[in-house]
Amino acid sequence: MEIRLESRTLNELENEAVVAVVFEGEKDQRLEEPLADLYASGEITGKSLETTLVHRPAGLKTRRLALIGGGQRGRFNPAELRKCAGAALRFLKAKSVRDIAFLLDAPFHGGEFVAAAAEGAVLGDFEPDRLKTEKKDQKRVDRVAVAVPGGEAGLETALERGRIVAESQNFTRDLANEPGNLLTPTLLAERARQLAAGQGLECEVLDRDRMRQLGMGALLGVAQGSAEPPALIVLRYRPESAAGNAHLGLIGKGVTFDTGGISIKPSENMEKMKYDMSGGAAVLGAMRALAQLKPSIPVTALVPAVENMPGSRAQRPGDIVTSLEGKTVEVLNTDAEGRLILADALTYARRLGCTHLVDAATLTGAIVVSLGHVYVGAFGNGEEFTSRVLDAASAEGEKFWRMPLDDDYKEYLKSAFADLPNIGGRWGGAVTAAMFLKEFTGSAPWVHLDIAGTAWLDDGKPYLAKGPSGVPVRTLVRLAMDWRG
Ligand code: BES
Ligand code: ZN
Ligand code: ZN
Repeated sequence: MEIRLESRTLNELENEAVVAVVFEGEKDQRLEEPLADLYASGEITGKSLETTLVHRPAGLKTRRLALIGGGQRGRFNPAELRKCAGAALRFLKAKSVRDIAFLLDAPFHGGEFVAAAAEGAVLGDFEPDRLKTEKKDQKRVDRVAVAVPGGEAGLETALERGRIVAESQNFTRDLANEPGNLLTPTLLAERARQLAAGQGLECEVLDRDRMRQLGMGALLGVAQGSAEPPALIVLRYRPESAAGNAHLGLIGKGVTFDTGGISIKPSENMEKMKYDMSGGAAVLGAMRALAQLKPSIPVTALVPAVENMPGSRAQRPGDIVTSLEGKTVEVLNTDAEGRLILADALTYARRLGCTHLVDAATLTGAIVVSLGHVYVGAFGNGEEFTSRVLDAASAEGEKFWRMPLDDDYKEYLKSAFADLPNIGGRWGGAVTAAMFLKEFTGSAPWVHLDIAGTAWLDDGKPYLAKGPSGVPVRTLVRLAMDWRG
């Protein structure tokens, strides 16, 4: 799909379809003439994502005018536009339209809006059908124009940024969607190598021997039940001239399949555990975008990749492992594996010089109980950095909710035989998981994102196909791009 900027007005646009946003309780003056009857019928309410298609609108050159509800004008923002663009694209694509213009009129036409429109279109276009061989009457959109009548300086850069970010988010969605047989830790590392080679990033993959030498007992314990060897993927972006001494570390959980291990999961829905590397896929997608957008801060991504299997060499409940940090962990439940591999990756990130850490992980079922499938749970060990991450998320329309990390919860993490157990008690499971990770972050500002409820959609939305969501790629990219101090 080609995407470009356009400066023609509604009357001048000649695309197969033109999309215009209409608002609740308003009659769009430009459309009063072509749509007089429709307005009179009350069919256009402007409610969020309501779609109306008009053929041969009077007085316009386009063959179709698609109206998409933007909700209340006062609440309209780039996040709403992103959804509108995605929903309109999917609606028109289903009708075999191949050439679409999105009209952005005053006052919704600045860089943030242009980028959001481009993102909405690219994200809406994604289908998780890579492995279907029978693509019956497959439809495709060839051209999308974002039309800002009269134009404006700087919009090309915004459009390009939107395209890069959304294509990177789609890269993450594709990767996250790969089934466990086609994406083992070794193959994930191979994909990371290819990404690095294509984008000019440095890539290093630590194998089992190297991890043994270093003493990554927590990560290796998880890996030992699988015939597939683990890999610790490290990707580096270095700016030509860095401003300041900060170095951002992005750590993503890369469990290519989580059976639970000896503490095996029930079979119902277990297929969803192919998504247990979504955090890893997100940090790789963010690196893809950053390689092109070139922030002023160095960024290192780490993806501990393992398969959690109950093989004959698998770790047992009650096993005690020694982490890279030196802390011993009693593995009371082998299904709480994400925190074990992240523990060693967080320690290693600090050893590589990362000063600020963000991890993304499909870590706990408990976060789904807390926040459902709407908000990402965000846990941070300090106010300033946590607010920066939350601000980046809200600017990107990714919903994050601040969760507590309070020392009172330490009571929940007591082991009789080791420094730490890998699970807490019955309550506050998402918090105890985060408290466990905190033990491995030293004094570095750190934010943990539990994406177990948000990494994929069980049902599609009008603006997004079902399957992996690509959260939190956009937030990670913005955090690095807006780096200050
Ligand atoms: N990968 C799962 C968490 C998960 C659950 C992700 C549902 C997405 C949807 C994780 O490794 C896990 O199994 N966690 C356990 C922890 C428990 C044993 C303390 C859980 O949440 O049940
Ligand atoms: Zn698990
Ligand atoms: Zn898991």
